[in-house]
Amino acid sequence: MKGKIIFLTCFLLISYLVKAENKQVIKISTNDIDLIYKVGDNGRLYQSYLGKKLHHPSDLAYLPQEAEAYLTHGMEDYFEPAIHVVHNDGNPSLLLKYISHTENSISPEISETVITLQDDKYPVTVKLHYIAYTKENIIKTFTEISHQEKKPIELQKYASSMLHLNHSQYFLTEFSGDWANEVNMKEQPLEFGKKILDSKLGTRANMLCSPFFQLSLDQKAEENQGEILVGTLGWTGNFRFTFEIDNKNKLRIISGINPYASEYLLKPNEVFKTPDFYFTYSLSGKGQASRNFHDWARKYQVKDGGKDRMTLLNNWEATYFDFNEEKLVKLMDDAVKLGVDMFLLDDGWFANKYPRSSDHQGLGDWEETADKLPNGIGYLTETAKKKGIKFGIWIEPEMVNPKSELYEKHKDWVIHLPNREEYYFRNQLVLDLSNPKVQDYVFNVVDNLMTKYPDIAFFKWDCNSPITNIYSPYLKDKQSHLYIDYVRGLYNVLDRIKAKYPNLPMMLCSGGGGRSDYEALKYFTEFWISDNTDPIERLFIQWGYSQIFPAKVMCAHVTTWNKNTSIKFRTDVAMMCKLGFDIKLTDMSKNDESYCEQAVKNYNRLKPVILDGDMFRLVSPYGNNHTSTMYVDKAQQNAVVFAFDIHPRYAEKTLPVRLQGLDPDKMYRIKEINLMPGANSSLPNNEKLFSGEFLMNVGLDLFTKQQLNSRIVEITAED
Ligand code: DGJ
Repeated sequence: MKGKIIFLTCFLLISYLVKAENKQVIKISTNDIDLIYKVGDNGRLYQSYLGKKLHHPSDLAYLPQEAEAYLTHGMEDYFEPAIHVVHNDGNPSLLLKYISHTENSISPEISETVITLQDDKYPVTVKLHYIAYTKENIIKTFTEISHQEKKPIELQKYASSMLHLNHSQYFLTEFSGDWANEVNMKEQPLEFGKKILDSKLGTRANMLCSPFFQLSLDQKAEENQGEILVGTLGWTGNFRFTFEIDNKNKLRIISGINPYASEYLLKPNEVFKTPDFYFTYSLSGKGQASRNFHDWARKYQVKDGGKDRMTLLNNWEATYFDFNEEKLVKLMDDAVKLGVDMFLLDDGWFANKYPRSSDHQGLGDWEETADKLPNGIGYLTETAKKKGIKFGIWIEPEMVNPKSELYEKHKDWVIHLPNREEYYFRNQLVLDLSNPKVQDYVFNVVDNLMTKYPDIAFFKWDCNSPITNIYSPYLKDKQSHLYIDYVRGLYNVLDRIKAKYPNLPMMLCSGGGGRSDYEALKYFTEFWISDNTDPIERLFIQWGYSQIFPAKVMCAHVTTWNKNTSIKFRTDVAMMCKLGFDIKLTDMSKNDESYCEQAVKNYNRLKPVILDGDMFRLVSPYGNNHTSTMYVDKAQQNAVVFAFDIHPRYAEKTLPVRLQGLDPDKMYRIKEINLMPGANSSLPNNEKLFSGEFLMNVGLDLFTKQQLNSRIVEITAED
């Protein structure tokens, strides 16, 4: 008996100590980074540390308490809060205390920590979720807010994440621009006060600013050096990142849905789940941070991230709206000659009362235009099948032209202000996806096409207008829910499509890169990064998106934009991503055509390296007359280097380009590929054997003094 009592006392004591210990420190870890929280003596939760992994547990006790983890409005903090609620009695404050936390292993490489906080005066609960992807050094965070007050509480702010940093200086890189001018990388030092990156565009949310950032700490990070935090929000709608430096030069980063015009009435027991915020923290510069995201995205996030991608020929730039069956079949022949996998029919194939002969009409009426396509889509899928290629089709199902039968029948499905003149962006309006009936309609656009034409193998899903004339006939007195409920409605539709057609690849498009976030990419295999296909511009745009996204999801097409550049230059640029063509073979000489056919063969051979390998950005197009990027497969057996001379100066000194990511002790044969028919390589030491050590320390003379010259060098390990 006595023994039993001693055992029980010891057990209780140990569990108490363990609990007390757990209560003190909550560690969220990946292989290289730690995010550490502590519970203060006042019972509140504090972020103590974010940075390089700390390996000695005994040190943790000495970590400073630092800032409250998820700061609330109405208490003693003077800066921007993560959350702001108004209770039933009108009290606008919240004081969150630590209640408990759990740590679960989702798999040997993923762990989840959930910290539960509660107000001690009001029945409001906030759960902070952290999912750590160990190998890729990515942490995904989101927040759940719920309550048990009698009536709905009003959420005025509801961040996905709040992070605190304490460094000497901060340098923020934003990715901003416009249509055909996406993701310009601009770096600026942050000073006292706020810098906000956000969007209020609703649907085409990222047209002016993309939902990701890089933040260098203490000094500007380079490709291979410096501490840097890179973050992005998975939300296909209005986002906001707030960077605020306080009087002590401490920085807080608040990430989430943009609460602009979006107060949310949260019902008792309803759980408000914020979107996911993903971040990585690299101790060795931007390149590593990008590779962390690329690996994670392919493995865990992107639809079919581990699967192959199809090369294609798209008719948009080749025909615009001016096509008929004959022209399309001819383009299919071009696709076959080029050796690509698929023909993609773009905008202009639908509507009869108001045929879609321009962007002024027809959106919403998803039936083939009879006089353009008398034999329907079925004839086209059949023809493609006979020619041995796949068939894909363009839709823009969230939108409507006022000149359409849909608008005439269902004005109540359209987001519009009842008592004002309508304002149109690209002659169209946005359908009200907060309305379940509209969700059904949008789902049916895909479902009807798939049911009627099961051979459709691919969709390009476009979205050309931001939300304008903001008023939902469906939401009535809950207008401030529209921006949020729209996106939820969209996900509801995409969930249904994914469930019914799990193997259907889809391209996300929004007048170029107007939608580019990782939540959307759960449903889409790739996205159209820009309508600007001038290869010089693309070098910058691809450089920008590659900071966050792997080549596998970035569509790049060869077109006739910038005819001052050769077909080789244009194709070489597009081959750095997911290759496609948007061009007629009649726009090319025979020589160009054979070059392209060979390029497609090379691309197919190199796809596993480009799409699934590690990417190393070697020379930036920003501030240089040349640029270079390379890809290396995971086994370090095969690599490919792309090098471009944009506008070299007459007397410029060019340096060899030092390669990266190879095995220093392996011997590699270098070989210039993608040469124009009959051309000889001018690459010094072409086809010679080098050690990885040489290639990475001495480098290759890849750049030339020629304007708009490009080179692709294949690198293969030999035993
Ligand atoms: C905008 C897209 O970005 C283009 O690729 C094309 O599909 C057009 N819309 C069609 O209207």
